[in-house]
Amino acid sequence: MTGSTIVVAGATGNLGGRIARALLARGASVRALIRPGAARDKLDRLQRLGVTISSVDFSSASQVVLACSGAACVVSALAGLRDAIVEAQTVLLDAAVKAGVPRFIPSDFSIDFTKFPPGENRNLDLRREFHKRLDKASIRATTVFNGAFAEMLTGQMPLILFKRRRVLYWGDADQRMDFTTIDDTAAFTASAALDPSTPRFLRIAGDQLSARELAVVASEVTGEKFRLFRAGGLGMLGMLIKVARAFAPGEKELYPAWQGMQYMRNMFEGRAKLEPLDNGRYPGIHWTTARDVLSAGRVG
Ligand SMILES: NC(=O)c1ccc[n+]([C@@H]2O[C@H](COP(=O)([O-])OP(=O)(O)OC[C@H]3O[C@@H](n4cnc5c(N)ncnc54)[C@H](OP(=O)(O)O)[C@@H]3O)[C@@H](O)[C@H]2O)c1
Repeated sequence: MTGSTIVVAGATGNLGGRIARALLARGASVRALIRPGAARDKLDRLQRLGVTISSVDFSSASQVVLACSGAACVVSALAGLRDAIVEAQTVLLDAAVKAGVPRFIPSDFSIDFTKFPPGENRNLDLRREFHKRLDKASIRATTVFNGAFAEMLTGQMPLILFKRRRVLYWGDADQRMDFTTIDDTAAFTASAALDPSTPRFLRIAGDQLSARELAVVASEVTGEKFRLFRAGGLGMLGMLIKVARAFAPGEKELYPAWQGMQYMRNMFEGRAKLEPLDNGRYPGIHWTTARDVLSAGRVG
């Protein structure tokens, strides 16, 4: 499928930009759908890479249809709440169908939310809502589930408490969780976009580790002894989520604290665990481990 045109929505973003780069490295032509008013420096960067920019107003269906025409696959890496995940992605989906694009990869890139019921994770419920439309559309869809971005281990995700030399966990210290770097997710997604025979779901993980195993890795990487810190059971985490949501709502924010806690609960609870993995589907992808990420981005 080298030489195919792949449309990428969200290419000005973190994951989308990396998917565009990985597609170009695989010999694809990349057309990025960009909203009017997107930052000039991001557009320049994409153009320097060799991406074709298609400026579209997502409220104009006809513009989006035109921008999708001739593509072998539309890849969405949009991020946001209902306006992006349900509304803008629906415009994109309808346009892809109308333009006769055979395949669509939605902006899922998460834990496997098909394994637990609605109501447990606000952001993933929006994807579920979009899937209802996607699964009715006459286009072949493929979701990429990657667990959590592994880079969050050194920053956003309060699992490894570097200053306190602790690995925090809820529930079971031996429950394994899935971590994949953003670049590995992008590389796999690019290969999937160029693969005409993908199934509905693909599951990848650069590493699968429990809190206990993370403590060992953190100790070895830093040379300091990391101990486990049990914050409580999953029932207690559920109560904290309710309290945090009631007292610090952040309903209009993409990642309020309670949303991060919902994600942690899903990961520690285990149902969203990715299996079986499709890591071996495309040769040539080197999977980055949690040890690699901690070694490269050590926070002291
Ligand atoms: N599994 C994990 O741990 C994890 C962590 C982080 C993200 N993710 C997922 O990865 C995907 C990409 O996230 P990211 O962090 O790369 O996002 P990002 O850097 O914030 O980029 C978001 C992109 O979406 C575009 N966008 C946002 N709202 C839009 C709308 N209403 N209409 C059209 N375009 C819109 C933005 O365009 P502009 O430049 O014009 O604003 C930008 O290109 C999302 O599905 C996100 O949930 C997963």
